[in-house]
Amino acid sequence: MGGDVILTGDRPTGPLHLGHYAGSLKKRVELQDKYDQYILIADMQALTDNVGNPEKVHDNVLKVALDYLAVGLDPDRNAIFIQSLVPEIAELTMYYLNMVTLARLQRNPTVKDEMKQKGFGANVPAGFLTYPVSQAADITAFRAKYVPVGADQLPMIEQTNEIVDKFNSLYRREVLVRCAPLLSDVARLPGIDGQGKMGKSTGNAIFLKDDAETLSKKVRMMYTDPLHLRVSDPGHIKGNTVFSLLDAFDPDKAGLAELKKQYKRGGLGDVPVKDRLLRFLEAELSPIRRKRAEFGKDPGEVMNMLKKGSRKAREVAARVLADVRSALLLSY
Ligand code: TRP
Repeated sequence: MGGDVILTGDRPTGPLHLGHYAGSLKKRVELQDKYDQYILIADMQALTDNVGNPEKVHDNVLKVALDYLAVGLDPDRNAIFIQSLVPEIAELTMYYLNMVTLARLQRNPTVKDEMKQKGFGANVPAGFLTYPVSQAADITAFRAKYVPVGADQLPMIEQTNEIVDKFNSLYRREVLVRCAPLLSDVARLPGIDGQGKMGKSTGNAIFLKDDAETLSKKVRMMYTDPLHLRVSDPGHIKGNTVFSLLDAFDPDKAGLAELKKQYKRGGLGDVPVKDRLLRFLEAELSPIRRKRAEFGKDPGEVMNMLKKGSRKAREVAARVLADVRSALLLSY
């Protein structure tokens, strides 16, 4: 560790899947050697739309932690922590809420989309509408300079920087640090049903925890090209989940390009293409699965690791909070 600070996180609303792996987890493993990396399991944020189901959030904290460890995130090189065990974040959120307007919150495009999806309308929980503010607290509590995210999280970074600027200009000092996104260069993976993006709760994901048989079943039923009825028919690559996943996981790009040509021309069935994908996925996922099972044998130890990471995170967040309180003349 040492150098610039990175903060990233996930909501514990389900185990992590291939989309997380290709888009962010692999990247985090790379970054852990170059940066001071904080990885948060956002249980409080998850509650903003799961308040009626705290068991779900609770159970997924451990699952997400197991996924982290399984892909090779090292608790000695990262602070892996639970958001609710760092109450400084909640206190910062309380102050930051005074730096945003209701109109601004309602304009956040990601929140707008999610509200539509969940059918909240005017009955949106206030905590949900304001979660970008608590996300600003997640980020600024560690003076994070970089936040690796997908494109859907860009509005959160923008809102964070608005709060940072407002705070620093109101109190005429550089208390908070602006952050920049580190955008993933991997496109979001489609679901195995070809209907939209792979999601934790949409029933269309390949999870890191899936066993070999489940993986093979999911690849066999994967959406390809509904117009490709006979092997001799020309096939489509665009919108074809198998090829989208090959793009992300096939290391032999030249071989893949040749395969695509053949598929488009006709004469290549779905089965050999799926077999190829399964080979790569199995090679990539089987060591992860093994490690996950190993760590899963001792959940108490995983929890200890999270508590230790949370203590470390608290120390850092407490320093930022002290500066914020002082700027707000709350130091009595
Ligand atoms: N909102 C993020 C998501 O849904 C999770 C998250 C919470 C996060 N706090 C964060 C991501 C801070 C980056 C930085 O995936």
